[in-house]
Amino acid sequence: MAPRTFYIRTFGCQMNEHDSERLAGSLVADGLVATDDMETADVVVFNTCCIRENADNKFYGHLGNLKTLRESRPDMQIAVGGCLAQMDGEEIRRRAGHVDVVFGTHNLTRAPALLRQAAAAGPVVEILDEALPDEQAANGGQLVAALAAERDVPYSAWVNIQMGCDNSCAYCIVPAVRGGEVSRPMDELVAEVGSLAGRGVTEVTLLGQNVNSYGRDITRRRPLFADLLRQVGAVEGIRRVRFTSPHPKDLRPETIAAMAETEAVCNHLHLPLQSGSDAVLSAMRRGYSAERYLERLAAARAAIDDLAVTTDIIVGFPGETDEDFEQTLAVAAEAAYDSAYTFIFSPRPGTRAAAMEDRFVDAEVIAERFERLRVVVERTADHRHRARIGRVEEVMVEGPSKRDPAVATGRTSQNKLVHFVPPDGRLPAPGSYADVEVTGAARHHLTGRLLAVTSRPSHRVRIPVTAR
Ligand code: SAH
Ligand code: SF4
Ligand code: F3S
Repeated sequence: MAPRTFYIRTFGCQMNEHDSERLAGSLVADGLVATDDMETADVVVFNTCCIRENADNKFYGHLGNLKTLRESRPDMQIAVGGCLAQMDGEEIRRRAGHVDVVFGTHNLTRAPALLRQAAAAGPVVEILDEALPDEQAANGGQLVAALAAERDVPYSAWVNIQMGCDNSCAYCIVPAVRGGEVSRPMDELVAEVGSLAGRGVTEVTLLGQNVNSYGRDITRRRPLFADLLRQVGAVEGIRRVRFTSPHPKDLRPETIAAMAETEAVCNHLHLPLQSGSDAVLSAMRRGYSAERYLERLAAARAAIDDLAVTTDIIVGFPGETDEDFEQTLAVAAEAAYDSAYTFIFSPRPGTRAAAMEDRFVDAEVIAERFERLRVVVERTADHRHRARIGRVEEVMVEGPSKRDPAVATGRTSQNKLVHFVPPDGRLPAPGSYADVEVTGAARHHLTGRLLAVTSRPSHRVRIPVTAR
């Protein structure tokens, strides 16, 4: 009998993308085979996000679309996991009775067992408040985060260094759906990166909700994140180390020094601002002032050559006044971001901010502020992109551009996307490094001229693609 096939659709952040890789790992270990085609897959898994309301709506839309398909194929199974599943639990089956399995963020690896259970005895919902001790034991004492992953790309890998979040930002649902911070031991992480490097991975991205508090739950001795950056950067074969996200309140001088002194650490810092108003920052419980944020940013820029800085900003937090918003514009202009993810405040069930209903900002006011912020961010982004023209950048090649297969794309250390056309028409293999002269700048990417391919990838096999 042909093995059952699975298709995973992922919503949300990089952490969820990486969870999907681990989920794929556990399904493959259970004898299933990945497919790119949702229509024919025997098992369709949605790994969901609930960070903002539109994330919920998007997902329920996709789920609704599968109803007819599920009805026409009795053997097919639909599973829903991840953050929204953790938040909504039973509600998912109430809204979509064609779902076979619902699991949360703490029992990802139970998915194969739950699928089998559902095939034998009908729909199952299993949401846990924390990881089962026996599940950890079954994994040789390892945290779920350490499970073998079916990685999408053979030359670049995500590594989860910490699960959950110990902060309590007033708007944020993450601590409720992901639990408290649990760090993975440093030696385990360094070994994992070593093994990835051995398989030809040259770029790693360290993932956590607040990476600079990494290790706080293991020891109070010293800032472990700085040590981790240095150790991972020293692993033979690792040319690029990225990380996301650091929290501004915990960005310590030791981390900045480790970034500056570790050659492999990329020249990019994603430092979420959220708001430039002290009153709003305090209501958000972010633990820093605008001045403190700018000081830390200045320290990072002073220590690290040619640093690109990106951020997250929320517009329309409850009670945000015109003056508060003006301060956000001023800080954004001063910070001179390379790009910013800007979000409209979305009340999330159970969060402190959701209870501030009497102070919600009018949707029209928010829309107007959002637009003004976009203009300010684009001004500095354009300026900083244009300043790259004429420079020679080392680019890690990612593959052909989605729009035009004759154009190659890659990323610089600053994490800027570069499009370039190889003069001989032959695209360097994904995972190659190349020197590219920047010849043009657009809002979201640079264009360039290939000077030389400086190294080719050493990975041997293309790891099966986990469908998205
Ligand atoms: N741990 C990360 C953030 C993860 S969520 C950090 O602290 O940097 C990614 C971004 O989504 C946040 O930085 C915030 O800007 C945005 N966000 C989170 N909750 C939101 C909400 N309720 N409404 C609007 N934006 C939100
Ligand atoms: Fe959410 Fe704040 Fe934790 Fe980030 S640091 S995940 S915004 S609670
Ligand atoms: Fe990520 Fe969304 Fe969960 S942003 S942590 S997948 S709520």
